[in-house]
Amino acid sequence: MHIRQPIVAVLGHVDSGKTSLLDRIRGTGVQGREAGGITQHIGASFLPTETIKEMCGPLYKKLEQSENKVPGLLVIDTPGHEVFTNLRSRGGSAADIAILVVDVNRGFQPQTNESLKILQSRKVPFVVALNKCDQISGWRKSETKFISQAIKEQDASIQADLDQKVYDVVGTLSILGYKSEAFYRVEDFKSEIAIVPISARSGVGIPELLSVLVGLTQQYLQKRLNQDEKEPRGIILEVKDEVGLGQTANVILIDGIIKKENSIVVAKRDGVIVTKPKALLLPKPLDEMRDPRDKFKPVPQVEAAAGFKIASPDLEGVLPGSTLYVASNDEEIAKYTELIESEMKSVFVDTETNGVILKCDTIGSLEAIMEMLKRSQVPVAKADIGPVTRRDVIEAKAIKEKDRHLGVVLAFNVKMLEDAQDESETSHIKLFENKVIYSLIDNYNAWVEEDSA
Ligand code: GTP
Ligand code: MG
Ligand code: NA
Repeated sequence: MHIRQPIVAVLGHVDSGKTSLLDRIRGTGVQGREAGGITQHIGASFLPTETIKEMCGPLYKKLEQSENKVPGLLVIDTPGHEVFTNLRSRGGSAADIAILVVDVNRGFQPQTNESLKILQSRKVPFVVALNKCDQISGWRKSETKFISQAIKEQDASIQADLDQKVYDVVGTLSILGYKSEAFYRVEDFKSEIAIVPISARSGVGIPELLSVLVGLTQQYLQKRLNQDEKEPRGIILEVKDEVGLGQTANVILIDGIIKKENSIVVAKRDGVIVTKPKALLLPKPLDEMRDPRDKFKPVPQVEAAAGFKIASPDLEGVLPGSTLYVASNDEEIAKYTELIESEMKSVFVDTETNGVILKCDTIGSLEAIMEMLKRSQVPVAKADIGPVTRRDVIEAKAIKEKDRHLGVVLAFNVKMLEDAQDESETSHIKLFENKVIYSLIDNYNAWVEEDSA
């Protein structure tokens, strides 16, 4: 059995400390260089086993005994303000496991809930990092990096305070259907979510956080991580024009190997494209892909799991969130073209039936909202990427004549064209707009309920 690196998504509300946590582990200063201290784009970096071993200290001994030792971790930093919906994979998640970062003094915040809903719908296991423990009022600084030891060094009142904060999280999670506990009280890691108090600033708790995380992947994720007979595939995170490189795509390779001479098969809005990479570019270990200390290295091949760049002029217009397949002959090209076409057909909806009109910014958000609407039993007549157009409103108007609750437009993170706005006002078509996925759906459901009463 050949086990690859687990893909670990780091999520949480804006400023909960996601980038700071990764900086602390990597020994980097990415957060300090971000404009306004805000992460704008999804990033990736490889944490080698050596780094994890060093961080975990004596806790690593137990992890080392596993038959399914993971060769490091691929960690994905996400922006708190727009959630990680494009980390998708065939309706599921490209992430194997997640760290949900919660600010200990603020508890659950809107994007914490949003992250959790998506983890839930994509069935991703996760660990809670209760961050900024150093900011608990009266917290005593100590030398140790182990939170279990640091807690013992606090006054009884501070210990009680932290316990209360942990229980607040336990309470919130239980409302959402999860059983959770402080990691040192967890009896069964399969059925209970572990909460690890940490401080990204001082580094305390990171040994325990990493050892819980690695332990979980080694124990429960072997099947996902096993590379035997896995076909190579990845996910496009972002496509952009870069000085000296031309069109590039930031890619996460989820399974398999991609070679420079292979063809890649990916989706644009209006069809599938097949192209050969001009270059495969790999960041150094511990470097953040979106802000590397060193230049990316041109390589003949990349092995999963990895974050890397593909340069090719044909990438312009490729959809972020699109699955990337790797083909080495015409037969495979045909197979993957068909796969992507059918995948796109299931993402983009255009039917004659009654349902709401949905417009979103990316494939990932579209897919996440579709999934949540399905669970709320709300039918969708049309689902597409792009701004709300007059045509969308006119379609909603026709549907309204048959079902007044379905003749609406739901818009996520997209513009409303002026003539669409005018049309919605004259024809009294309701438009729901929200940058938080679950609020968008909640607002629509609340309106239906109110209007039916
Ligand atoms: P976005 O990517 O913008 O969503 O934010 P983020 O979750 O990556 O948080 P970030 O790392 O940018 O940290 C936000 C602020 O909190 C920064 O000023 C950090 O220095 C601070 N911070 C992060 N972790 C800690 C911590 O453990 N203790 C203290 N005192 N401050 C922290
Ligand atoms: Mg950040
Ligand atoms: Na921030």
